[in-house]
Amino acid sequence: MKKIERTAALRAAITAVRREGGQVGLVPTMGFLHDGHVRLIRQAADECDFVVVSVFVNPLQFGPTEDYETYPRDIEGDMMKAAAAGADVVFCPDVQDMYPDGPPLTSVRVAGISEPLCGAGRPGHFDGVATVVTKLFGLCEPDRAYFGMKDAQQLALVSRLARDLSFRVQVVPCATVREPDGLALSSRNKYLSEQERKTAPAIYAALLEAAELVVHGERDPRIVSIELRQRFAREQCLDIEYAEVRDAGTIAALDHLSGDVLLAVAARVGRTRLIDNVVLHIDGEKVEMEAGEIQGEP
Ligand code: PAF
Repeated sequence: MKKIERTAALRAAITAVRREGGQVGLVPTMGFLHDGHVRLIRQAADECDFVVVSVFVNPLQFGPTEDYETYPRDIEGDMMKAAAAGADVVFCPDVQDMYPDGPPLTSVRVAGISEPLCGAGRPGHFDGVATVVTKLFGLCEPDRAYFGMKDAQQLALVSRLARDLSFRVQVVPCATVREPDGLALSSRNKYLSEQERKTAPAIYAALLEAAELVVHGERDPRIVSIELRQRFAREQCLDIEYAEVRDAGTIAALDHLSGDVLLAVAARVGRTRLIDNVVLHIDGEKVEMEAGEIQGEP
């Protein structure tokens, strides 16, 4: 596996693969890879001839008071995990190489999807995500790009962006990976103290309880979100930012639950902001739940 730090070298590597007719898979990450990322890389390696894992902590998507400086970084560990999972290249440019003219004057905004939920608490965040993902799509020209379902709003945004801007990439959603107690894997779990780590699985438990209401026939989104919030009110160490029920594809608010529905939560556990969700596929009385996979289980 190769480490590539310059955009020009990445383009050359991609051109060589394309010349041979190879299919390129892209796994965009900010590094500090965990088993959730490893799953994305493995799936990409199964489905593509050449897999690029980008590791870039993108300053555009962090607010001025957020954790850009302290975001966990471990490029040596990332290289080992990416290689073991089947990556061909780890692309880890520095900020100067990605944004040689300073902060870009061009910004990509996916209107509507960017504003609610995480967009409300993190103004500008999704413009930063959309801009860097657009750059990565331009640089790699991937046939497939792999995104985790834990970031459901990001997944909806990237899927829409790819369609709106006519990238020929197929955006592949991959299941959330969870610890045995249900906590969704995240690079930020590293910030949790021992006590906070014990509290954090309550987020997933609350989502499952609210999802059960829908499974048992509730179709009023207000009732489901009230239940979700009430469940959190019982948790003293969780500070809820939002707990909402939305359309999974457009992130629009709903009057009635049907189709692909997202139950989404952002909460602070101590100083750490965590997000999680479950997706419900509702067809009349039938409800299928996509809640992710427990680490280590087949
Ligand atoms: O999900 C992430 O790690 C980031 O938002 C992404 C997609 C790599 C863009 O920086």
